[in-house]
Amino acid sequence: MSEDKKKQVSRRQFLNYTLTGVGGFMAAGMLSPMLRFAIDPVLKAQGGGDFVAVVEVDKITTEPQRFDFTIEQVDAWYESEVTKSAWVFKQEDGSILALSPICTHLGCVVSWEGSENHPERFYCPCHDGLYYKDGVNVPNTPPTEPLHVYDYKIQDGMLYLGKAKPREEA
Ligand code: FES
Repeated sequence: MSEDKKKQVSRRQFLNYTLTGVGGFMAAGMLSPMLRFAIDPVLKAQGGGDFVAVVEVDKITTEPQRFDFTIEQVDAWYESEVTKSAWVFKQEDGSILALSPICTHLGCVVSWEGSENHPERFYCPCHDGLYYKDGVNVPNTPPTEPLHVYDYKIQDGMLYLGKAKPREEA
C-alpha cells in the first residue's frame, strides 16, 4: 500500500468523525440550558440586589402612606415586572415600619382608615378585618396574625424595601 493511500481517511473513519462531531454538538445544545437552570439560583444569590428604592425618607410621615414600587420577578426563565405596595410610616421612636397591605386572613388588600367606623386602624373590606397601626391584628376579627413586615434599609436618603416577612421573622 502506498503512503498516499495510508494518509487517506476511510469512509468508515469519515462517518465516525462526522457523527461524533454532530452528536457532541447536539449534546452540548441540550445540556447547556439544563446546566444554566441548575446553577441559576447560585448566580442569583451572588447578585444580592433584593432591595428596591421606594421613597425619599423625608417624605415618610407618622401617618401611614401607601407607596407602590416595582420589582423584577424571575420564575425559572420567565422574567416579569410586578407592582408591590407598602404602608410606610415613622413610629414614635423614629424607626420606620413598612407593612404589607395583604390581609393575613385570605389575602385581600387592607387600607389605613379604610372604614369610617374604624379610625386609626388598617381595615380589610372583605370580612371586616382590623389591624392596629403597628400591623398587629385586632383580636376577635378574622385575621389570625399581624400584617407582614418588609425588610428595609436606608441609603443616600432613600428608603429601600426588601421582602415582606411574617412578624416573627421580621
Ligand atoms: S381577607 Fe381580610 S378579613 Fe378576610
